[in-house]
Amino acid sequence: MRIRRESGPAAAGARRCRYVHVIARYSASSNQNTGVNENTKWTPELSDGLTFLDKFVKETQRLHNPSFQPGRTAKVDCIVPGGYKLPAGAVVICALHAIHNNPKIWSNPGRFDPDRWGTEETASRPKNSYMPFATGPRSCIGFNFALGEVKVLLPELVYRYEFSKEGEEAVTYDPEFQLIRPMNFYVRAKKRTSWPKPSEGAKRIAEEFGPDEQRHKF
Ligand code: HEM
Repeated sequence: MRIRRESGPAAAGARRCRYVHVIARYSASSNQNTGVNENTKWTPELSDGLTFLDKFVKETQRLHNPSFQPGRTAKVDCIVPGGYKLPAGAVVICALHAIHNNPKIWSNPGRFDPDRWGTEETASRPKNSYMPFATGPRSCIGFNFALGEVKVLLPELVYRYEFSKEGEEAVTYDPEFQLIRPMNFYVRAKKRTSWPKPSEGAKRIAEEFGPDEQRHKF
């Protein structure tokens, strides 16, 4: 197959906005105190230990994935699963949003539910029913970097700012776009001057995984 591409590092900045959009949209679940502050020294163990954050990122990538049309061109005639024949030269655009919202695979797919991750249901879902970074030899080469980066960036942002949806108007989404692109969604970022108490989980993670000098700081 030949490759048509809509992705790459240049689009990565736009993707970070997705997370901020989700934080503001579902603020009840995500304006949490992860225990991160200006003294936090990041280690891979610390960011990997933030298990709710991992679920939050996965669920954002499922419901609000920014990759809208990874495309492939068939080099030869072929039959794909389902029995569909693709003639050589046919362009296939994978509808990632439809795959990530298929009710045969995801229960209540329209619901933003980070806690669906780590359950039997998500563990046993069919291969390729979740592919925010596409799949195969031409999938995203930056996926590990992107995931590592966002798990540092988000807690740092949430520590400094409280994000909320601006206005009371119901959010409307572009009906002609393959993904759910909000048409009227604005985010207010308010600098924090006080913080909710860190969750018990956050304290435990900092104690367990943080570098020596940041342990027992709560
Ligand atoms: C949340 C962040 C990201 C998402 C969701 C994402 C998603 C994707 C997807 C779906 C593709 C396949 C596109 C296609 O087949 O048409 C792709 C390809 C690619 N991505 Fe990413 N990406 C992300 C971040 C990054 C970052 C941070 C980098 C670089 C540091 C990067 C570098 C690339 C490159 C170079 C390709 C082309 C690979 C190839 O054609 O062999 N991506 N990405």
